[in-house]
Amino acid sequence: MIKNINDKAQTLIMGIESSCDETAVAIVGRDNSGQKQILSNIILSQIEEHKPYGGVVPEIAARSHIDHLNKLIRAALKQAEVGLQDLSAIAVTSGPGLIGGVMVGLMTAKAVAYAQKLPLISVNHLEGHALSIRLTEEVVFPYLLLLVSGGHCQILVVKGVGHYQRLGTTIDDAAGEAFDKTAKILGLDYPGGPAVEQAALKGDPTRFKLPRPLKGRPGCDFSFSGLKTAVVRARDKLYQENDGQLRRQDIYDLAASFQEALSDSIMDRVKNAIDYYLLNYPLSNPILVVAGGVAANGHIKEKLGNICKMRGLTLMAPPMKLCTDNGAMIAWVGMEKYDLEQFSGFDIGAVARWPLDPDAPLAIGAGVKA
Ligand code: KG4
Ligand code: ZN
Repeated sequence: MIKNINDKAQTLIMGIESSCDETAVAIVGRDNSGQKQILSNIILSQIEEHKPYGGVVPEIAARSHIDHLNKLIRAALKQAEVGLQDLSAIAVTSGPGLIGGVMVGLMTAKAVAYAQKLPLISVNHLEGHALSIRLTEEVVFPYLLLLVSGGHCQILVVKGVGHYQRLGTTIDDAAGEAFDKTAKILGLDYPGGPAVEQAALKGDPTRFKLPRPLKGRPGCDFSFSGLKTAVVRARDKLYQENDGQLRRQDIYDLAASFQEALSDSIMDRVKNAIDYYLLNYPLSNPILVVAGGVAANGHIKEKLGNICKMRGLTLMAPPMKLCTDNGAMIAWVGMEKYDLEQFSGFDIGAVARWPLDPDAPLAIGAGVKA
């Protein structure tokens, strides 16, 4: 009855994700031999709905999750060729994120779990990104994680399920946010990351001298808002020089210069994190995992690869479909927590802020994201 996975007794977890602008439902299975499989992983992006605004509008996001979630649950079950009665548990993102959207997912998960008498597993969205590599690869704890997405920019040591040491976080914008804002400044498409990366391929990264925020400073925190301001200034100067116009090549050169400055800044912070990790976690095979939407950026991945090579680390990244927001990563955390019997009561609520490392100091300016 169950597709693609042998029919020994197994654990089947449904994962529901609705914390930002993707409505996503997945079913992940594991058989008695420990073989894991994504039986379905359905993602409905709201990009087109938010495009006119150049960013995610929380109310539009929440309404869209309401419109689509039930349909996606049915589709995920159908694709996996299982019924609700076959599931072992329901895992759901209950934070951090845009609170309206998180509530839609959480209430739906509660209803299904209650009706089917299934365990409910509350999942931290960031933990979804942090552990997704273990769904596709045999990676053991502890490993170093660079989480770079539209809402987050952090470096952590992943010590175990629910056990994180945050080495650094952004004190203002997330890396993906910086890409998105730069795209808007340059009149490029939304979401900005892929558009800026494409434009940068045709540009000269040395033409504009942009700042490398926090470079050379101790620690592993990030900052990108000064870089964004520098891009605005460079663009305004170009406007003045060209009668209020931006020439194609100017856009390409500015995009390339921005990407170079941002990645330089990230690499500097990552080097500090690697030094700390190698010193405090001596391992025979140290690993750096990069996850989140910005991990799609070829330039950043290449630079990370070079640093890892120089310092004797293995660089790993989940497949792209698991890097951006998805339900499979939530189902996978569900599986890990199922094994540890970490179930939730029906009284849990949605939370906008939920740091992975509760002992890390609050980052100034990071708002609800850190
Ligand atoms: O992980 P994700 O799908 O959603 C969040 O949890 O935020 O990440 C989306 C972010 C967006 O800011 C997008 O511009 C960025 O990832 N992104 C990229 C690239 N592809 C997506 N940034 C840089 N280069 C890319 N190729
Ligand atoms: Zn995310």
